[in-house]
Amino acid sequence: MQTRPMQTVRTLPELRAARAAMTGRVAFVPTMGALHAGHMALVTAAREVADHVIASIFVNPLQFGPNEDLARYPRQEAADAALLVEHGCDLLWLPPVEVMYPAGFLTTVSVAKIDAAFDGAHRPGHFDGVATVVAKLFGQVRPDIALFGEKDWQQLAIIRRMALDLDMAVDVRGVPTVREADGLALSSRNAYLSAGERTAATELPRALNAAVAAIGRGEPVSLALAAARQAIAAAGFEIDYVELADAALQPTEELPARLLAAARIGTTRLIDNIPVTIRASR
Ligand code: PAF
Repeated sequence: MQTRPMQTVRTLPELRAARAAMTGRVAFVPTMGALHAGHMALVTAAREVADHVIASIFVNPLQFGPNEDLARYPRQEAADAALLVEHGCDLLWLPPVEVMYPAGFLTTVSVAKIDAAFDGAHRPGHFDGVATVVAKLFGQVRPDIALFGEKDWQQLAIIRRMALDLDMAVDVRGVPTVREADGLALSSRNAYLSAGERTAATELPRALNAAVAAIGRGEPVSLALAAARQAIAAAGFEIDYVELADAALQPTEELPARLLAAARIGTTRLIDNIPVTIRASR
C-alpha cells in the first residue's frame, strides 16, 4: 500500500483550486465517513482507473428522516483521513454543512419511479436527499468517474439515472460489496450492533443466500422469499422488505433479478442485496 500526500480542503475556493491543478482523469468516492474496508475498496478501485482520487466526507442531513440516526451517525475524521492516505487518496473534501446548504438553499433533485419501492418506500425523502447531495458533489468535484458501493443497490441505480438524465458526464461505477468472513456486509452502521446483535446479524446474508440457492434448485420464488423472511425474523430482525427487484428497481418475481433486503435488529437498520441470476424451473 503506497502512502502519498493528501490535501484536505473545507471551502469551495480551495476545492476548486485543487481540482483545477489536476490533469488527467479524476475519480471520486463520496462518503459519509466512518470509513471501513468497503470504502477502501472504492478508493482502491478509484486509484486503478484514474490519475487523481478525490474522496468526500459529509454526513448529509437531507438524507436522514426525522427519527433516523443523524445525531449518532459515527464521526471519526482523523481515523478516516489516515485510512484515505494509506489507500492513495489525493484530496479529501470535507465541507461543513453551511457550505453544502447555505441559508436560502431551495433545490431538491428527485429521481422518480426507481425511488418508489424498497428503501424509497420505507425512508420517505431519503433518495431525494441522496440525489441532491450527490448532484451538488458532482458539480463541485467535477469527476470523470464516481464510485459507489453495490451494497446500496437502489442508491446506485438512482445516481446512475440522475447522471444520465442530467447530462452530468460522470461515469458512475458500482463496486461489489465487501463482507466480513461470516458474510455480513460491511457498513458504518454495524458499529451500532451489540455483540448479540452482531452474531444474529449474520442471518441476514445467510438467509438471502439460502433463498437464491433455493430458487436455483427450482423452488418457487414466493416460497424461497417466505422462508428467508421467516429465518430473518426468527433471528430477531424486524423486516422492512425481502424482495426481488428488476433492473428498473420495481418488485418482480422474474429472473434475473436482485434480491434486496432491509431489516432492523435492535435500533440498527441493515440492508443487503445479492444477484439472482439462475432461471428457476417452476
Ligand atoms: O452512500 C453514502 O455514503 C451516501 O448516501 C452518499 C452517496 C455519500 C451521499 O451522502
